[in-house]
Amino acid sequence: MQQIPRHIADILELARWAPSGDNTQPWRFEVVDDHHLVVHAFDTRDHCVYDLDGHPSQIAHGALLETLAIAASAHGLRTVIKRRPDSPDTRPEYWVELAPDSQLPSDPLLPYVKQRSVQRRPMRTSPLTPSQIHAMQEAVGNAYTVRWFEGGAQRWRLASLMFANAKLRLTMPEAYTVHRDIIEWQARFSEDKVPDQALGLDAMTLKLMRWIMASWQRVRFFNTWLAGHLTPRIELDLLPGVFCAAHFAILANKAPTTLDDYVAAGRAVQRFWLTATRLELQLQPEVTPLIFGRYVRAGIEFSRMPGATNMAAKLGKRFARILQAVPVDQVVFMGRIGNGKAATSRSLRRPVERLWKP
Ligand SMILES: Cc1cc2nc3c(=O)[nH]c(=O)nc-3n(C[C@H](O)[C@H](O)[C@H](O)COP(=O)(O)O)c2cc1C
Repeated sequence: MQQIPRHIADILELARWAPSGDNTQPWRFEVVDDHHLVVHAFDTRDHCVYDLDGHPSQIAHGALLETLAIAASAHGLRTVIKRRPDSPDTRPEYWVELAPDSQLPSDPLLPYVKQRSVQRRPMRTSPLTPSQIHAMQEAVGNAYTVRWFEGGAQRWRLASLMFANAKLRLTMPEAYTVHRDIIEWQARFSEDKVPDQALGLDAMTLKLMRWIMASWQRVRFFNTWLAGHLTPRIELDLLPGVFCAAHFAILANKAPTTLDDYVAAGRAVQRFWLTATRLELQLQPEVTPLIFGRYVRAGIEFSRMPGATNMAAKLGKRFARILQAVPVDQVVFMGRIGNGKAATSRSLRRPVERLWKP
């Protein structure tokens, strides 16, 4: 193994804390020399129904590159990042130059990189303050606008949409295999998965879910005859959807179409999330309605479950009614946010030694 320069080791040590869907960490690193490295990114579209066209992974790549830039600022290094044009969309490569810049201040979001973590449990309903809302808008920059869904009635509408959306998620076989593979059972922390204790279920339901999810036959039986999806949907979607300060949607000024658009969105998402952490707010992304909606708009069959497309189409219409004037194709990220305790169970990350390009 080559000797890694100390400052690059420090930068990567911090950058790896960027968030990714289901903690997949779709990136590997290659150090070229003291001032250059390559990020070998990839996506999971070939086996993950949520990673439509790799866009959620690309948002994560953006979050990683933003975190790299923040981490580099601590060393007076400015990042210049270029995507290699000949690298395929499924495995984009980013050439990162770390250019010394004595004028560059340390990024104010630096202290929050490791602290930022998803909170999937209920939060307080006390509203965000105008200054928090202002800071969150500032965080995403001019190319994006944050729309807020506040107040009891709007939170209820989004919570019930998420509740309906979860029926689709918890009954389709394609999502079952994803959940089965990414949950680490009986764990408070997980290096490369999501620990079950971070999901937001109570201990009894978790135990039952662990047993049921051991086989698709069990899942199907419980869903068909005992409405097995009901309790998890209440705990994972309905209650947290109501118990938060607000739901939010981050909108791009122009609907994203290219890989670079999604990466840019990911950079804004990470600044938004880190700013929430700086403001001591908790956050949970809620992106699956966006993904199912895009499947429907693109006319792509995403499940062998009869009626899945129909369900997604109905959800899409309901979602559009909630969004009202907000153009759905410009929404790059959604979630809920609020005051509350930080999560006590969370995903960790692969150590840097397990993130080298093979
Ligand atoms: C693009 C993207 C989409 C995500 N979608 C969801 C989601 O729909 N629901 C959810 O609970 N978490 C979602 N997450 C959060 C990840 O699961 C979480 O960031 C990851 O497991 C790492 O955990 P940490 O944020 O606590 O470090 C998403 C994260 C990213 C970057």
